[in-house]
Amino acid sequence: MYKTPLLEKSALKEKTILITGGGTGLGRSMAKGLLEAGANVIITSRKTEVIRKTAAELADITGGQIMAVTGDVRKYSDIEKVLAAGIDQFGAVDALINNAAGNFISPTERLTHKAFDIIVDIVLKGSYNCTLALGKYWIEHKHNGTILNIVTTYASTGSGFVVPSACAKAGVLAMTRSLAVEWAKYGIRSNAIAPGPFPTKGAWTRLFPAELAEKLDPKRRIPLNRYGHHQELVNLAAYLLSEYSAFINGEVITIDGGEWLKGAGEFNWLEMVPGEMWDQIEKSIRKRSKTKPSS
Ligand code: HXC
Ligand code: NAP
Repeated sequence: MYKTPLLEKSALKEKTILITGGGTGLGRSMAKGLLEAGANVIITSRKTEVIRKTAAELADITGGQIMAVTGDVRKYSDIEKVLAAGIDQFGAVDALINNAAGNFISPTERLTHKAFDIIVDIVLKGSYNCTLALGKYWIEHKHNGTILNIVTTYASTGSGFVVPSACAKAGVLAMTRSLAVEWAKYGIRSNAIAPGPFPTKGAWTRLFPAELAEKLDPKRRIPLNRYGHHQELVNLAAYLLSEYSAFINGEVITIDGGEWLKGAGEFNWLEMVPGEMWDQIEKSIRKRSKTKPSS
């Protein structure tokens, strides 16, 4: 069920959606799903060949309208050019998905300041560049807009070993909530999705390298004992961009099979206790709790 599209084929008809980092991974999957729901899609990233190939393949598979425009989200002028190209082609741009990101695991003390910069620049600066460019355009043209930010669960909790990403995603989450209030008067909604692990080459090579994955299966951290399926995230994104979610504003929706809560619960590690041991543990607790405390 979760592997099939949620919305009918016309749900996003006449909407044009800009997806940063739309050539690979989750961005590519969202582009495909949104085309299938009737939207026009613009994808942008730094690698021209990658986005052109993705656009050609998705146009072929879906029969939808998709264009690829090269751009680096860290450069405001690039985003202005991407937006102008989108307006030229489709007449307007109605929604933005801030999906482009950079990340890798590392003890923070091993990072140079440049390594910190590179992640924060892509994730936070990239997201505010695109948000500002689209927001100014929507406000000037009195055009309703929708922003969807792809964050992470550790945007709320923080996490060691991905500190630049955690700082940047927390900033994006703060922007999501702030603008949900400030720009609502212009008809601009702002929401976020916090995914748990969804297999992509980009994330897996940098966050779960083979040496680690052999020792620590990341799936074991997930109560539902599986990774997310791309279509599940696509369905959530399509819903949040559609009019079905018109009253949802300033929300971050977690889609992680319960992963972050499992990490948060102080006694969740007790699942390691074998079932048959609980009789003995219960007996012991009951016995000791009846003995008089020795003041
Ligand atoms: C320590 C490192 C490093 C590492 C790079 N650096 N890799 N430091 N450990 N593994 C340092 C370099 O030494 C350098 O600093 C600085 O970072 C920039 O390095 P470059 O070589 O210029 O960068 P490069 O490796 O080309 O690019 C890094 C990157 C790249 C920008 C992150 O991998 C990229 O473009 N990624 C985009 C896609 C991506 O990352 N996708 C994953 C998203 S997944 P010095 O000072 O030495 O010059 C995601 C999911 C989260 O966000 C949640 C999952 C559950
Ligand atoms: P991915 O395939 O590596 O996607 C990242 C994309 O960002 C790439 O297409 C990359 O394209 C683009 N990008 C990077 N720097 C850019 C820049 N300066 N300008 C423009 N585009 C740039 O990884 P993914 O797993 O699909 O991640 C997509 C999003 O989901 C990210 O925001 C990530 O943090 C989030 N997320 C993923 C997971 C997961 O499990 N996969 C979990 C939580 C959150 P170029 O290299 O061509 O520029």
